Amino acid sequence: MNILEIIAKKRDKKILDKEEIEYFIKEYTNGNVTDYQAAALVMAIYINGMNDEEITNLTIAMAHSGEMLDLSVFGRNVVDKHSTGGVGDKVTLILAPIIASFGIPVAKMSGRGLGFTGGTIDKLESIPGYCTNISIEEFVENVKNIGISLIGQTLNLAPADKKIYALRDTISCTDSIPLIASSIMSKKIAAGANKIVLDVTCGSGAFMQTYEEAKMLSETMNRIGKLATKETVCVITNMEEPLGYAIGNNLEVIEAVKFLKQDMPEDVKEVVLELGAYMIKLAGLGENIEENKQRILEKVRSGEAYQKLIELVKNQGGDTTYLDDTNQFAKAKYILEVKAKQGGYIASIAARQVGELSGYLGAGRVRKEDPIDETVGIILKKKTGDFVQLGEVLAYIHANDEEKGKKAVEELQNIYQIQVEKTQKLKTIIDVR
Ligand code: URA
Repeated sequence: MNILEIIAKKRDKKILDKEEIEYFIKEYTNGNVTDYQAAALVMAIYINGMNDEEITNLTIAMAHSGEMLDLSVFGRNVVDKHSTGGVGDKVTLILAPIIASFGIPVAKMSGRGLGFTGGTIDKLESIPGYCTNISIEEFVENVKNIGISLIGQTLNLAPADKKIYALRDTISCTDSIPLIASSIMSKKIAAGANKIVLDVTCGSGAFMQTYEEAKMLSETMNRIGKLATKETVCVITNMEEPLGYAIGNNLEVIEAVKFLKQDMPEDVKEVVLELGAYMIKLAGLGENIEENKQRILEKVRSGEAYQKLIELVKNQGGDTTYLDDTNQFAKAKYILEVKAKQGGYIASIAARQVGELSGYLGAGRVRKEDPIDETVGIILKKKTGDFVQLGEVLAYIHANDEEKGKKAVEELQNIYQIQVEKTQKLKTIIDVR
C-alpha cells in the first residue's frame, strides 16, 4: 500500500477501505506521509466526501492514533459534551459543575480557542491559580474525590486529529461534514466517553451556516456514534448572534459564575437546560427531559451547582475569592461605549464578526502559540429583537489598546444591524436529533 494510490483513489471518487484509512492516519501521525500529501487527500475528501463506513473508520483510526483514556472505573455511563464551536460559548463552565452536582462524574478535557471561536481552557485560566495542566493520575483522582475535573488537552489524545485539524485550517477545509464529524467523535472516544451530547451550532458564527448542514452533521455524528457503540444526542443551537452577553475570557467566566448565582441570560439558560437534560438522561438518571430541566434549575437555585464550581476551582489550585466577588477580576484599561447610530429594532449581530473583533482586541489567537489577553472583549447590552433609541448604548468594548478599542467601537456599530420594523428574538434551540 502507498499514499499515492490512496490519494488517487479518493481523487477518483472511490471508497477507501479500513486498511487504507488506517495506513494514512498511522503514517501521517508518524511523519512518513508529508503535509502536502495529507493536504491532497484531505482536499479530495472535502470535495468527494466519504460514506458512513469510511467516516467511522477514519474516526476510530484517529481516536487510536495516541493514548486512549480509560474511565471505566466510573462505570458505563461516562457522559461527555462537546460543542462544534461558537462565540460567547461559556456553556461548559456552567454545565460541568451542574452535572457534577447530580453525582454524575465529569472528567472533561477542553480545548483552547482558535480563530474566531473561544476555548474553555483559556477562559478557565483567567481564574488566578487554576491549573489546567495536570497528570492523568491526578485528573482521575480528582474525579474520584470530588466528582469533577476540567483540564486542557495536555495528553497525547488523538494526535492525528490535532495534525489534520491544523492542516485543514491552512487549506480551506474546515467546513466539511466527514472531517468535522471524525474530528469531534475521535476526541470524545479517545477521552473515554461512552455517552456523548453534542452542541451542534448553526449560523453565522458556526462552521455549519444553515440548518440543513447542521442536521446533516448531526445525523452523521449520530451514525458514527451508533457504529462505535457510543450513544449520541445532537442538540442544534443557534449561533447567528453570540451566546449570552459576554465575549472574551474573564468576561465570560464572570457571566458563567453569575449564571450559577441565578443571573441567567435566557439563551444561555436554554442551551444549558437542553444539553444538561440530555446528559442526565444518558447518565441513566431521568428519562423525562422537562423534569430534568427543572431539576437543573433547582441545583442552581439551591446553590449546589455553584458550590461544585467552588470545589472544582479550589481543587485545581484556583483562587475562589474571585468567584465570590467577581469584581476582583482584572479589568481592561479602556471600557468604551458603543452607541446606536439609529433608533429601531436589532435585526442581527453577526456572531462570527463579533468573535473576530474580540480576537482583534486580543482575546483570541491566530497561531496556537500566540498569548491571549484575558481581560479584553465585548459586553453586549442589546440583542436581536431588542429596541434601541438613537444614541443608546448597544455594547461596551473592553480594550487595553486605546486605538484598537476605538476602531472596535466603530466596527461593532456597523456589525449591529438595526431596522425600523419590529424584529423577533432568535430561537435558541433549533432541533434535537
Ligand atoms: N470542533 C472540532 O473539534 N473539530 C472540528 O473539526 C470542528 C469543531
